[in-house]
Amino acid sequence: MTSHDQRAERKSIWHDLLERRINRRSLVATGAAAAAVAALPLDLQTAEAAQYNAPMSAPALAQRQAQGSLPFKPIGTSTADDLILPEGFRYDLLAHRGHDMGNGSMFGENADFLAFFPIDMLEKGLDQTRPQFGFTRSDLSSNDGLLLVNHEYINPMFISGYTGSGAKSSDQINAEKHMVGMSVIRVKRNSDGRWYFDQSDAAHNRRIDATTPITLTGPAANIDGGPIAIGSLGNCSGGVTPWGTALSCEENFQDYPNAAPTGYGWEPEIYAKRHYGWVVEVDPFDKNSTPRKHTALGRFRHENVAVRVGGDGTVVAYMGDDKADSCVYKFVAERKLTNLADRPGNMQILESGQLYAADFANGKWILLDYNSQSALQSAKDSKGNLLFTSQADVLADAQAAAMVLKATPVDRPEDIEIHPLDGSVYIALTNNTGHGNFHGQIVRLAETDGNPAAMSFDWSIFAVGGSQSGFSSPDNLVFDGEGNLWMVTDISSSRTNKGIYKFQGNNGLFFFRTSGPDAGIAFQFASGPVECELTGPCWSPDGRTLFLSIQHPGEESKSLSELSSHWPIGGNEVPRSGVVAITGFKR
Ligand code: FEO
Ligand code: CA
Ligand code: CA
Repeated sequence: MTSHDQRAERKSIWHDLLERRINRRSLVATGAAAAAVAALPLDLQTAEAAQYNAPMSAPALAQRQAQGSLPFKPIGTSTADDLILPEGFRYDLLAHRGHDMGNGSMFGENADFLAFFPIDMLEKGLDQTRPQFGFTRSDLSSNDGLLLVNHEYINPMFISGYTGSGAKSSDQINAEKHMVGMSVIRVKRNSDGRWYFDQSDAAHNRRIDATTPITLTGPAANIDGGPIAIGSLGNCSGGVTPWGTALSCEENFQDYPNAAPTGYGWEPEIYAKRHYGWVVEVDPFDKNSTPRKHTALGRFRHENVAVRVGGDGTVVAYMGDDKADSCVYKFVAERKLTNLADRPGNMQILESGQLYAADFANGKWILLDYNSQSALQSAKDSKGNLLFTSQADVLADAQAAAMVLKATPVDRPEDIEIHPLDGSVYIALTNNTGHGNFHGQIVRLAETDGNPAAMSFDWSIFAVGGSQSGFSSPDNLVFDGEGNLWMVTDISSSRTNKGIYKFQGNNGLFFFRTSGPDAGIAFQFASGPVECELTGPCWSPDGRTLFLSIQHPGEESKSLSELSSHWPIGGNEVPRSGVVAITGFKR
């Protein structure tokens, strides 16, 4: 038996904590437990109540869905090779893999995170009175803007024709390098309400790929021969800053230097450097700007980043490390946000600050700081070598530092979003099959006194995946302006529609109320094409358009002549990942 097997058999710390939270609910009417629940902040009590409501039988759920006063009529599960939406809604395809960017380059593969920037944002300015919501002021354009798109990874068969034997040619590697990274595309809604990609906007349309020079900032800027990294990799989810830039998160960067077919087989001398696994800030309005990787936010498999601003201008960023048994992090910036109009100054905010990891057992944030934590100074690996000799080392392997300081490993923390009305922090824990958590949970964290910079917090379970709740494997989250939560699922394509995942059909998009009697109940809004994952949900400021990525349709296709999906073109066409705009919302 390998050491990994032994670890998988052991009950995890996280599951012990989850169990204790769940058991507390069944004791709610009795003495000490009742007092403990009563002592919780009101929003956590609501979440506790919501959890009672979550497990419903399928018929009861269907009845509830039919009765609910929802902004749409929920759909059922689907296995169709299309994006299925409720009555009255439709999607427009904006761009797909290989789409001509209008400048000789191509739209990349496997779209993920999306961020919409109203085209008049810089001209009209940001809402100084609501820094948390930055560019969502209501008079900014919801019909014309720049869409930043992450391109998470590639399927070599669809890009270079490589099907997994021997080494790749340099032409194949070169073709693959140009399909990752990010795109910035100009998107517009025309007079008949349809959205389209304006390829003629040469001033903005841009590709950032695995060859684009990117500057490293912060304490680890000079690591492994920095401060210039070659390209960005594994751009999964991300976030937006209140000052109107995009944050793109580098997640699974580890596979690029490894030899094909196990890895991507790119140059190890470049792609094995610790120049990947960071949060990258991009100014979508300045095509000539150099993106920056902020090392102060730590290096791990970054899923996303959610920025929150405290009443005194303190900027914090919540982040998840999407790996089994990994942590949730919080960055607290040194420089405060005092003037939204100072965009150049604000773009330095993420360059310095303190990084913390969450201890869910004690409700505390643990500081990952080499100089003040003697345990980091003395920590050794299994061979007796020091793990860290500087803060740069700590940041470059934040998970190792978090484990030394006894932060809590949880079950694949993916997206994190902040509730727009109460500031609580929602965390999608996708699953952790190694510990028997097959369907995941959504957890809600509340900082002490609602202060984003607090050093302590409480948490509760908002929703639990499984056939009783209708969804499995929660991933990207987004709130609408009314505080409703929209969530997409990430059942891996090899498991979709099989075994214990069959109940959900294809991956989907679900809606949750976050308060009231329906809080925590999942209502399905969309179902994606075969073997895809829906990713990157993002609203226009008026809430009437939902942008969404359709990632890896037909991922399990055995060959180019045995395709499992033909989305979006149909016929015998190869499947293409892409980005759509969904309309039909009445607000
Ligand atoms: Fe790239 Fe964790 O999803
Ligand atoms: Ca994801
Ligand atoms: Ca999100």
